[in-house]
Amino acid sequence: MEVSSEDIKVISRLVDDLCGIVLDETKGYLIKSRLTRIAEETGCSTFSELYYKVRYANDKTLQTKIIDAITTNETLFFRDTTPFEAMRHKVIPDLIDEKAGTACPRRLRIWSAACSTGQEPYSMVMVLYELLPDAARWDIQITATDISDTAIRQASLGRYSDMEINRGMTSQMLAKYFNREPSGWKVKDEVRGLVAFRRINLLEPFVGLGPFDIVFCRNVAIYFSPEARRSLFLRLADTLTPSGYLFVGSSESLTDLGPRFAPHQHCRSIFYRPNKSGAAAPQACLAGAGR
Ligand SMILES: C[S@@+](CC[C@H](N)C(=O)[O-])C[C@H]1O[C@@H](n2cnc3c(N)ncnc32)[C@H](O)[C@@H]1O
Repeated sequence: MEVSSEDIKVISRLVDDLCGIVLDETKGYLIKSRLTRIAEETGCSTFSELYYKVRYANDKTLQTKIIDAITTNETLFFRDTTPFEAMRHKVIPDLIDEKAGTACPRRLRIWSAACSTGQEPYSMVMVLYELLPDAARWDIQITATDISDTAIRQASLGRYSDMEINRGMTSQMLAKYFNREPSGWKVKDEVRGLVAFRRINLLEPFVGLGPFDIVFCRNVAIYFSPEARRSLFLRLADTLTPSGYLFVGSSESLTDLGPRFAPHQHCRSIFYRPNKSGAAAPQACLAGAGR
């Protein structure tokens, strides 16, 4: 199926509205490679026809298929390494110190926003178990969210192929936290049990989410427009506790967003903490965080 400049215009607008991903006029090849099958299965002979079908029939199943096809779910275990080292050697120990003597000294709330197929939140759990062998007895919840139904489905199954395991997983961690299955590996229940997966569109208001001690929001805002990216990080700031931590991707920086975030460095890892004014209120012990 050929892609006309009108097709690129209308499909880009649709994709931007559905998930915030910006497709410029050079992305005709991406529309063609990722959406041709859906267009054909839907009986459309052009991409503009597909656009009108989604827009005016308001077909949610079709919208979901388009989101699944257009999103890039690239991820791996312990991606970039340094955020997980900072978590283990600085962030969690500091949070434990800060919480000592409070009403909820063993409570941690973490959000992996745009978690793709789950490697990021499961890597977090492994860091926690390495640091706190009795983590299962702590009050820890990791909320892991993504817009892609297919990604969330795979993530919550916790099943990975040999190839996915070979991307970032050490043999020592593999032996400790996974069970062998005929077609690959499955994370153990004690790892899976700390994570709650949900479908969340980061463009929409964060109703009932937070406050969080740590948020990872990595390698998703790079696909957004400057306005959507700015709005996302400012809203994320409001989901953090006043002493919370935000990690972004290794190619991302928040220094252009003004005083809402202060950058901090631990070894080779940069992370951000909210500046005091306007930050989320201290968490109440019994309040839920994302579930
Ligand atoms: C490249 S992956 C990043 C995964 C992981 N955070 C990492 O850094 O390895 C980007 C993810 O963002 C998700 N995504 C794209 N737009 C989104 C949106 N509007 N809301 C939530 N997730 C979105 C995609 O489905 C995809 O799984």
